[in-house]
Amino acid sequence: MKHIIAFAGSNSKNSINKQLAIYASTLVKDVEVNILDLNDFDLPIYGIDYEIKHGIPDNAHKFLEHIKSSDGIILSLAEHNGAYATVFKNIFDWMSRINGKLWSDKPMLLMASSPGGRGGTTVLDIAKGRFPYMGGNIVADFSLPSFNENFSEGKIINSELNDQLMKQVVMFNKNV
Ligand SMILES: Cc1cc2nc3c(=O)[nH]c(=O)nc-3n(C[C@H](O)[C@H](O)[C@H](O)COP(=O)(O)O)c2cc1C
Repeated sequence: MKHIIAFAGSNSKNSINKQLAIYASTLVKDVEVNILDLNDFDLPIYGIDYEIKHGIPDNAHKFLEHIKSSDGIILSLAEHNGAYATVFKNIFDWMSRINGKLWSDKPMLLMASSPGGRGGTTVLDIAKGRFPYMGGNIVADFSLPSFNENFSEGKIINSELNDQLMKQVVMFNKNV
């Protein structure tokens, strides 16, 4: 059976993006899902001096292996000050030092959510602009605005937004 990974670009224990990534993963048909958490891949802050002195830490290699061995990726990005959350940018930078095409052409459902009305679209647009240069194969994307109003007990409760996500999941499913 095909297997996908799902994770959030966040290190929050109660990450809303992790909740969204998990929910989206339950909608994908005929795949095994491996939920990953960036908290399990602790890394020093990227710096060229650290890299020269110590090399690239194992956790960057380990996460990249999860990507490479998967058949698809569900990623939901947290937005911090209109950009990637630090923990995501950090592992992204470390992995890019191993392989500039780190996303390995794996079909990706790329999402973002925030408690605000823009639903993380600023960071989503940044990633949509950048990932294709780095082996990214974004086959579907989705933003969930006003998370606290639209998500409850593990699922999207606004039917219009849920239908939007379902369409994106179908597209993702076709490509996995
Ligand atoms: C430092 C910081 C900056 C933030 N900046 C933004 C922002 O630019 N846009 C936004 O919609 N929400 C912003 N937020 C709110 C986050 O969207 C919110 O904390 C959300 O829960 C983060 O996702 P997560 O729960 O998956 O970590 C910010 C939060 C923090 C702590």
